[in-house]
Amino acid sequence: MAKDTILVLGALGQIGTELTASLREIYGENQVIASDIADERKLIETPGLYEHINVLDKEKLAYVIDKYKVTHLYLLAAILSAVGETNPKFAWNLNMESLFNVLEIAAEKGIKKIFWPSSIAIFGSDTPKINTPQNTTLNPTTAYGISKLAGEMWVNYFFLKKGLDIRSVRYPGLISYKTLPGGGTTDYAVEIFYAAKRENKYQCFLRSDTILPMMYMPDALRACIELMEAPAADIRVRSSYNIAGMSFSPADLAAAIQQYLPDFSITYKPDFRQEIADSWTQSIDDSQARNDWHWQPKFTLSSMVNDMLENVKI
Ligand code: NAD
Ligand code: SER
Repeated sequence: MAKDTILVLGALGQIGTELTASLREIYGENQVIASDIADERKLIETPGLYEHINVLDKEKLAYVIDKYKVTHLYLLAAILSAVGETNPKFAWNLNMESLFNVLEIAAEKGIKKIFWPSSIAIFGSDTPKINTPQNTTLNPTTAYGISKLAGEMWVNYFFLKKGLDIRSVRYPGLISYKTLPGGGTTDYAVEIFYAAKRENKYQCFLRSDTILPMMYMPDALRACIELMEAPAADIRVRSSYNIAGMSFSPADLAAAIQQYLPDFSITYKPDFRQEIADSWTQSIDDSQARNDWHWQPKFTLSSMVNDMLENVKI
């Protein structure tokens, strides 16, 4: 029987570099093709195939899928929340057109499974902020959030109308040390570690009390892999699953860092990203993911801080 072949789109970003390496470890180096619009950099730790693909170029995408007889797609290319607010139309076009290209080609070519991440950015100011339920009021006010919410609806549509097996999680802000984040509102929670190690101080672009849902990268990778491995019959949410890791404010994070670096200091100078953060929720009810595919996060604020401080290289 032919082996499954995976194509990762947007593989050189914060999630893609680590997810590609994890997928290669599980499924084999030659079964996972990395691709991105950026030139190949030696960012992905595991060696393997690389193709230059702009996700807006449907012909090239179809060509690469045929060339390698791709069976599984992971679409990670996107414009995130903060960059999206600097050019909303571009964010909408890229985030929607890339998804549409993938959905249409997948339906045409009989792709077996697709992973496409949504985000906590689908929530809006009138969403319940604490333990935000799976099904709730969704009125996002960022271009990024609007594109993710529309994406969730289209993903569900292609499942219902075309039978595509697409799986998705609403990632919280992701914290990692291998590849820097690509322009989101939660990026402060990564920047702070580099600043702490470099200069023992950090100026935060969010207010001290801004609590947001966050997750450490090892949990985020495991969520993706476990969701994709779960039997199709267990996947009862075909838009996108709430998943939770931890919730904290910049002040909480600074205090956790001070446990290791007592002289670390933080100041606050909120910018346009404060309004984005204020429109999102603080903590997530992920009971549906726990019930359906046994999701369980492992990292807490303190174990994440410990691991980040050990691993961040300046
Ligand atoms: P990122 O910005 O770090 O990486 C995105 C990658 O896509 C980059 O390598 C970029 O070069 C590539 N890209 C951009 N335009 C492209 C194009 N036209 N064609 C091909 N590649 C292109 O993003 P990330 O943090 O790795 O996020 C991946 C996915 O996860 C996105 O859908 C994002 O919305 C979602 N997500 C991320 C977070 C987070 O905190 N990182 C949270 C929630 C959801
Ligand atoms: N980390 C992402 C952002 O801030 C959330 O999707 O945009």
